[in-house]
Amino acid sequence: MDTAEIRRRFIAHFEAAGHQAVPSASLLVPDPTLLFVNAGMVPFKPYFLGQETPPYSRATSVQKCVRTPDIEDVGKTTRHGTFFEMCGNFSFGDYFKEGAIEYAWDLVTKSQADGGWGLEESRLWPSVLHGDDEALALWMKVTGLPQHRIVRLGPKENYWSMGVPGPGGPCSEILYDRGPQYGPEADWESMGTAMDPALEDRYLEIWNLVFMQDELSAVRSKSDFDIVGSLPKRNIDTGMGLERVAFLLQGVENMYEIDVMFPVIAKAEELTGKRYGADHEADVRFRVVADHIRSSMMLIGDGVTPGNEGRGYVLRRLLRRAVRSMRLLGYEDPALPELFPVSRDKMAETYTELHRDWDRISTVAFAEEHAFRQTLRTGTTIFDTAATEVRSGGGTVLSGDKAFALHDTYGFPIDLTLEMAAEKGLSVDEEGFRRLMGEQRERARADARAKKGQQGAGSAYRDIADSIGHKVEFTGYTDVVSEGSVRGIVSDGTAVESAGEGAEVELVLDRTPFYAEGGGQLADQGVIELDNGARIEVYDVQSPISGLIVHKAKVVNGEVSLGGHAQSLVDIERRASISRSHTATHMVHKAFREALGETATQAGSENSPGRFRFDFSASGAVPESAMIDVEARVNDLVMADLGVHAEIMTQEEAVRSGAMALFGEKYGDQVRVVSVGDWARELCGGTHAHRSGQLGVVKLLGESSIGSGVRRVEALVGGDAYRFLAREHVLVAQLSEALKVRPEQLPERVNDIVDRLRTAEKEIEQVRLQQLLASAGRLVDQAEDLGEVSFVGHHAEAANGGDARTLALDVRGRMPADRPGVAAIIGSASGKPSVVVAVNDAARARGDSANTLVRAASEVLGGKGGGKDDIAQGGGSDPARAADALAAIRRALQG
Ligand code: ALA
Repeated sequence: MDTAEIRRRFIAHFEAAGHQAVPSASLLVPDPTLLFVNAGMVPFKPYFLGQETPPYSRATSVQKCVRTPDIEDVGKTTRHGTFFEMCGNFSFGDYFKEGAIEYAWDLVTKSQADGGWGLEESRLWPSVLHGDDEALALWMKVTGLPQHRIVRLGPKENYWSMGVPGPGGPCSEILYDRGPQYGPEADWESMGTAMDPALEDRYLEIWNLVFMQDELSAVRSKSDFDIVGSLPKRNIDTGMGLERVAFLLQGVENMYEIDVMFPVIAKAEELTGKRYGADHEADVRFRVVADHIRSSMMLIGDGVTPGNEGRGYVLRRLLRRAVRSMRLLGYEDPALPELFPVSRDKMAETYTELHRDWDRISTVAFAEEHAFRQTLRTGTTIFDTAATEVRSGGGTVLSGDKAFALHDTYGFPIDLTLEMAAEKGLSVDEEGFRRLMGEQRERARADARAKKGQQGAGSAYRDIADSIGHKVEFTGYTDVVSEGSVRGIVSDGTAVESAGEGAEVELVLDRTPFYAEGGGQLADQGVIELDNGARIEVYDVQSPISGLIVHKAKVVNGEVSLGGHAQSLVDIERRASISRSHTATHMVHKAFREALGETATQAGSENSPGRFRFDFSASGAVPESAMIDVEARVNDLVMADLGVHAEIMTQEEAVRSGAMALFGEKYGDQVRVVSVGDWARELCGGTHAHRSGQLGVVKLLGESSIGSGVRRVEALVGGDAYRFLAREHVLVAQLSEALKVRPEQLPERVNDIVDRLRTAEKEIEQVRLQQLLASAGRLVDQAEDLGEVSFVGHHAEAANGGDARTLALDVRGRMPADRPGVAAIIGSASGKPSVVVAVNDAARARGDSANTLVRAASEVLGGKGGGKDDIAQGGGSDPARAADALAAIRRALQG
């Protein structure tokens, strides 16, 4: 049964039982406690916690998930995938344990002809949390199995939480016995309540039914957590691993061999010429390739780009491990352009957007491979140098330091270092390497701890959020002044009741017009006035947890206390200016997509007063002509004075209306769509100008690269753009006045002047040289007779090193060839003396050496020199010693 059919049957089974089918949410649901969606329940978390009212009491989904803590296990076991799909059914206060058990058991045991999985009952082992006698009794009742067929396990296996504070509960798993060839038979009675790892491959967990009833305040490990109380309702959350069921029903050995993954392995076989199934080590690499290609494609699809931290780092690691595994399999050419399309064609059967977004996805992935290949090239040179050093020193071990530097500075993975060292007959001090890695990790942890300390206000914020029902009313879309009351005051990370004059505080009101920094838009500033006369200046506004708006402020007079009635006044000029920038960013984004194609999607932005920065994906520099077109197009539409409107609609309506899809929204979410006329339409929570005409002028300043595949444009808006242009105008007028030409003739005039300047400089140089050489004749005439040898020694103050050389050679050429002759010229035009000594053949026959002579002179000048016997050059630091230096040469010739 192919994966698509399993998916279809799962949804059909639960739809028939009154569940609303909900499409998968993005992998990037905006939950600050999670890097990625890692379970089917994540999008429903607010429903479990009672923070939001679900629109249905039963739901079912097949959710995209990414889990990366097990990345090293990928390919080694049958069941660890970094990307997987979780089939789930959910009850929000509707059915509980019994219903969940019935639905699951029915689906797994129902014959395939009747739409189920048709798994043999004798191979199925349900498990319950030790002590959950209710679940035990229900399993016996629903399945008819005797008590010894129900396994009792401890909280590590059978209590489920998100790993962070949130909902949780006891759970039951359905284990499938794959048979004796996959491990020993379990002796459940003597095993105790912890699952023996040796059994995990044989007794495969296929479905987890969570009886979601508790709220957890802290989770230290799978079996160590604090339950603060019960959830408002008793719920069900289940997760069935789509890939696991697929590999059982498809009769293959593991998840990497199922219909939607194996084609990547087949392609890798074709590229590398190696066969899958022939060698254990190679097989692991094939599976890593299949897994990582799919995971990275899905992550990029949902908007992640490679980077050095957080989500970006996970993506980078996946891509690089895939490329590296292909190399280890013997394939050295760019691999991703070959493998990505294979994975896309399989996954796009379900996720059709992979085709639509293909240009963007492939651009991001291929650029990362390109960069990594460059890393490998540079690192290889560094590695070779290090290896040569070790060997020439007679050693056989590459130090831990070197291996660490390769890793840390060049991103060179240790396994690559090990392999390359082995090729050169060297070993690597792996222990030293690991120690350094450990130290670095410890430093990073200490940093993280220090950071956490600064965020000590976290729990204070959460308490405030609870007390106001999780959401501050933001009035700033329509108002810049509004009334509210003081609901939270945080000082030095702790909640306080009041704060006096001079205090730095973080203030939460139940209603505020202040916009918290977000979506690339900078925070508002302004003042908050209290009825008791207190005045508070707001310099920053942040939203540390969803729904909360925190004013960072200083009490400039009076006292602020909880419950106080407040009037908030946003600095209107700053707000209007930032809003204009934000609208301009949307317009520039749209215009770039028109000019460069749909792949020019936004990768970041910053909207500040009067200016903005806009980052977007593009494969190379943006042509000057495109910059000019975009600027012209935007300014045309500024003049067209388009209305700017914001509307709230569902995400589906937004996509239908042509809004640029952003990431992190979940199906059914209400989103805010901002439109500039009918032209630019984007999901956006920011504030905007009312009409495009308010922008006045938009001036693009230029574009540059800020990383592979990402360009940055900076621009000015409104008054700032006008003042910039006015300043340029004054400059042009001044130049035009000074050069006595019309402005449009300026470039030609300046080019002309530069050309003439160059010609003049060349002429001056020639004249100078001629003068210098003209002195050569006179110098030869004045040569000193030192007995056996003629000597010309001269300090030409205006000569540089090159001149001194020219002059020395010229003088030597003019001296009689049949008599030993030596010319020494010192130039000191630069302030530092250069000395050149030229010796003719007759003098060399006598044993005079320019090299020796120049050293003697340089030493006197306070420097060094050297060269050949016939011509040598040196220098020093003290031109006042030029005469002494020449005397030293004279003495050497006489001695
Ligand atoms: N949320 C449960 C899990 O991820 C079903 O296993």
